[in-house]
Amino acid sequence: MKILVTGGTGYIGSHTVVELQQSGYEVIIIDNLSNSYESVVDNIEKITGTKPGFEKIDLTDAGKTIDFFKRHSDISGVIHFAALKAVGESVEKPLLYYRNNLNSLINVLEGMALSGVENIVFSSSCTVYGQPDVLPVTEKAPIKKAWSPYANTKQIAEEIIEFTTNVKNIKGILLRYFNPIGAHESALIGELPIGIPNNLVPFITQTAIGKRELLRVFGDDYDTPDGTAIRDYIHVVDLAKAHVIAIDRMLGGKSKDKVEMFNLGTGNGFSVLEVIKSFEKVSGEKLNYKIVDRRPGDIEKVWADTTFANEELGWKAEKGIDEMMLSAWNWEKALQEIG
Ligand code: NAD
Ligand code: WQD
Repeated sequence: MKILVTGGTGYIGSHTVVELQQSGYEVIIIDNLSNSYESVVDNIEKITGTKPGFEKIDLTDAGKTIDFFKRHSDISGVIHFAALKAVGESVEKPLLYYRNNLNSLINVLEGMALSGVENIVFSSSCTVYGQPDVLPVTEKAPIKKAWSPYANTKQIAEEIIEFTTNVKNIKGILLRYFNPIGAHESALIGELPIGIPNNLVPFITQTAIGKRELLRVFGDDYDTPDGTAIRDYIHVVDLAKAHVIAIDRMLGGKSKDKVEMFNLGTGNGFSVLEVIKSFEKVSGEKLNYKIVDRRPGDIEKVWADTTFANEELGWKAEKGIDEMMLSAWNWEKALQEIG
């Protein structure tokens, strides 16, 4: 069966394409390459032995998106990753984020409806919960007022999907990722942050390899055991596998609602200092870091209640923090060799 993966040359998309192909699916990717490279398609082929289809399309272009669906009437499901994701940039350029992330979703849904594609898996985010009142956070936790336009696009996108499935013959699975990190064990695909990374793990590996001088740890006065903020980091390959299970579930007619939502995390929280410690242990490198003020907009702590995903999807994250950090480090070293 053929799956359309939008944003499939991106970080999580590329890992998901690998898992889909290794589970027997045929994959076609749409990406506008605004935050990725077409060479990722060749690296996917190196891992799986099969080159996924690829079309360079900007999904905000309604005409081109609808035309794509007309030309590919044999698609069984869509995994929609394509979006802009830099929280800080979204604060500076809100309209860019609303236009890109929401128009592309609307065009994909329209294309699906016109061509009879019934299944969509959507990349949502734990950011829809803000700072939850109760930890670990379950799927029933209230959606809090968004702290950024980026987070707001995820909240609105979830609602667009819910309202669309009410009136169209479309089912959805919303996957709320916690903090995806790490890379494929082949070190052929991974995260490619353009410019200075915002996220912790690429900043750690770039500092250790000498691309950055020092890591700033944002705040050590949080109400946590060591004072630094806590997140639920999840290996990107574990995350990718959950997408295959979600697609299997929809295609197998096992969905229990027109729209289902699942938290994808490990259920374990790690502080910034614990992540650094794990990195130093697996890499043998001493990291140059210093504690600075809190980063505005950061929440103190969040980790997932994964019971629903574990029981209902039959999925559980398997890889621990050390394996995540080692794969991230191997990927950084591979990038250095490529130059
Ligand atoms: P990424 O930037 O590596 O991948 C997104 C891909 O979408 C890129 O290849 C980009 O070129 C493409 N794209 C963006 N706008 C497009 C458009 N208009 N038309 C066609 N292609 C377009 O990001 P990622 O980390 O792989 O994230 C994938 C999805 O998961 C995103 O929706 C993101 O918001 C969501 N998400 C990511 C994280 C995270 O921490 N990485 C956490 C939660 C949710
Ligand atoms: C993790 C921790 C920082 C960088 C973001 C998005 C969220 C989601 C995942 C998409 C925090 C600390 C970081 C640094 C640091 N993405 N840190 N020094 O903020 O949990 O979430 O990515 O949906 O929407 O907001 O991830 O990796 O930026 O930060 O001390 O240089 O590391 O303060 O506690 P975050 P992150």
